[in-house]
Amino acid sequence: MLVRKYRTSDRKQVEDIHFETGFLGSSMSRLLSNNLLWKKNITYYLEKESESIFVLENKNKVVGYLFGCLNDANNNETRSFVLHTLKNLMLSLFLPRKDKVFWRNQFMTLLHTLTGNSEEMNFKTPKNAGHIHINLLPLARGRNLGTKLLKEFENYAKKKRIKLIHADSFRRPKKSNAQFWLKNGFTVYSEVKTSIWKNQLPDEQIDLVCYAKNLTLS
Ligand SMILES: CC(C)(COP(=O)(O)OP(=O)(O)OC[C@H]1O[C@@H](n2cnc3c(N)ncnc32)[C@H](O)[C@@H]1OP(=O)(O)O)[C@@H](O)C(=O)NCCC(=O)NCCS
Repeated sequence: MLVRKYRTSDRKQVEDIHFETGFLGSSMSRLLSNNLLWKKNITYYLEKESESIFVLENKNKVVGYLFGCLNDANNNETRSFVLHTLKNLMLSLFLPRKDKVFWRNQFMTLLHTLTGNSEEMNFKTPKNAGHIHINLLPLARGRNLGTKLLKEFENYAKKKRIKLIHADSFRRPKKSNAQFWLKNGFTVYSEVKTSIWKNQLPDEQIDLVCYAKNLTLS
């Protein structure tokens, strides 16, 4: 397995992994009929900050990625996400019912958050920090490869003089990835109950957790 910088020729494979891991580490195919709209959520990273992406390669195939944003102070990525959710709601009208339902729910959750009607409003992330998203295909998990990918990004971020990074991650009661963040030196910065997956997993209490790490200490 090799950790390397992202190349534009990786785009399709990276978009596919984003789809295959999008539902709390499992495939979005349960919720969507195709990847047409879901892949737009990662446009910011692929088009505006591709130099901060690292991938995990096995036998010429990409099996994991880490998207980085060195400084989210200007909220570019959040703005891009909100715009895509709105656009996707409209575009989904031309897609099968399952997609319409999913994007309508996504939009309603976003609306609740933006209007202060959900617990997510109390979710805090550090100011002037970088952030990451990391996802590995199931075959690559549990072999220290996520840690390797993370270290590579941290070295890159330190060279760019980034002091603090965070990762916002869902924590499930029985399938928590919390240990991954804690063993890699992150601490819990904030946490809230989230209702984002309530339609899919109505009986499960899922938390949205912000894990943060001070890069000047390592
Ligand atoms: C989370 C993820 C990036 C970790 O990468 P990884 O290569 O599997 O993790 P590593 O082998 O480097 O580290 C493994 C540690 O994380 C813990 N861990 C990671 N994911 C876990 C999970 N879903 N359930 C339980 N433990 C998990 C293990 O307990 C292990 O701890 P240990 O070494 O003390 O036993 C990867 O498992 C993954 O992509 N999971 C699915 C999607 C996801 O959760 N992404 C993060 C969203 S921001």
